Amino acid sequence: MITIAPVKQGLHKEIDSIAPDKSISHRCAMFALLADSPSIVRNYLLAQDTLHTLEIAKKLGLKVTELGEKGDFIFTPPSKITEPDSVLDCGNAGTAMRLYTGLLSAQNGYFVLSGDKYLHARPMNRVIKPLQSIGAQIYSRNGGYAPLSVVGRELLGFNFTSEIASAQVKSALILAALFAKDSSVYSEREHTRDHTERMLCGMGAEITRDSTQALSTIHITPLVRKLKPLDIVIPADPSSAFFFALAAAITPDSSVLLKNVLLNPTRIEAFKVLESMGAIVEYHHTECAYEEVGDIYVQSAPLRAVAISENISWLIDELPALAIAFCFANGRSEVSNAKELRVKECDRIHAVISNLKALGITCEEKDDGFIIEGLGDTLLEKTAQKSPKVDSSNIPIFATAKNVDCHATAHAVSRNDRDNSLCEKVDSSVVLRSFGDHRIAMSFAIMGLRLGAVIDDEECISVSFPNFLEILREMTEVRLLD
Ligand code: S3P
Repeated sequence: MITIAPVKQGLHKEIDSIAPDKSISHRCAMFALLADSPSIVRNYLLAQDTLHTLEIAKKLGLKVTELGEKGDFIFTPPSKITEPDSVLDCGNAGTAMRLYTGLLSAQNGYFVLSGDKYLHARPMNRVIKPLQSIGAQIYSRNGGYAPLSVVGRELLGFNFTSEIASAQVKSALILAALFAKDSSVYSEREHTRDHTERMLCGMGAEITRDSTQALSTIHITPLVRKLKPLDIVIPADPSSAFFFALAAAITPDSSVLLKNVLLNPTRIEAFKVLESMGAIVEYHHTECAYEEVGDIYVQSAPLRAVAISENISWLIDELPALAIAFCFANGRSEVSNAKELRVKECDRIHAVISNLKALGITCEEKDDGFIIEGLGDTLLEKTAQKSPKVDSSNIPIFATAKNVDCHATAHAVSRNDRDNSLCEKVDSSVVLRSFGDHRIAMSFAIMGLRLGAVIDDEECISVSFPNFLEILREMTEVRLLD
């Protein structure tokens, strides 16, 4: 259990230690298995989820050599994926379980994929059914739940249109298609995150996409030779970076500069939503390695309510954090078409709403989303007038939070008004639940920067962002309780 103290002053911080991208890290370990020579992967995410993926890759024959820096590796592939002699433990990672199911369905051998109690409660039929339709032999518990047993064999090509907007389903099918007898076509109604296509194309696979208004269609040609190796520095994860964008957006007189973040358009939609709510957000592209990378600057401003019903797959990981922004906005915000939130690491609709209700915030659970009545924030309005105008050609120089010399006036305003307004509207002494879900724990921890918070079972944060609390501690007091 942790307690987070509310901040007494604005945050001004440059953060260059955001966790490396989780989606890309998973894929680096898996795709390196398919290369003809060693891959060089720098800044691999050393978090629970991606360490599970790496352990599994090792069991399948990947040789992992550490380079000097933390997270830098040489991944040497086996001549052929080897059958492991024990269970492949995916931990909490849905991406590991679903992508490996696709890949291993088409390899010779017997594979058993298992995970923690949360992963065992997540639906796997979304990959099992389409894979079975092309000949895969997959056995599951209770008609579609892990542990899964996969007996690899040669698969047929497919022409499949997914009714679920899921990059995990798409990636599982693409990996199977690389080893199928004939070419395959995968269509999706929403263009979900596309790291699999980008990275595999970069490694020499023949994967093309054409998009009409209604469908995005991907053509996959089976591999005739092994792939070229990866040579990549993994950028910071925009989904992890977003927690600190949220911190700046909801804390009066604040700004953050998030360094070296992945700027793939399918991954930064939450920053666009924050911008549409009134926060100041700027992107500074710096380089491109398989993907666009750059810095994101976020500054607080009065927030207005929004209604979100489109591009949900581009926001799916950030909706719990956005829900916190809605709490500080003026008016009623609403999320629809987001039923997928119910089958993430936990039921995120229920988790967000039950915590907000416990705090006393007016909100409602919908089958496919939620409605939140913003508390409004006179404090953001007052301090907005004081904030410096941003000149994009000249990003402000930042100090670490500890060194910031805050305006005495801003300090006084924030203390008085916090006591008199928001804190009176909520009961911040209640123990909030993480539901074992890293993104729920981190979203409410950021809310604690404004209101104070007590959160149970925060260990799950290490699933994706092991140094999250370290960064938070540079902003406020975070105490561990038993
Ligand atoms: C991921 C895809 C998304 C996302 C998850 C990572 C990936 O899941 O929520 O955190 O790396 O492909 P779905 O594709 O199931 O929506």
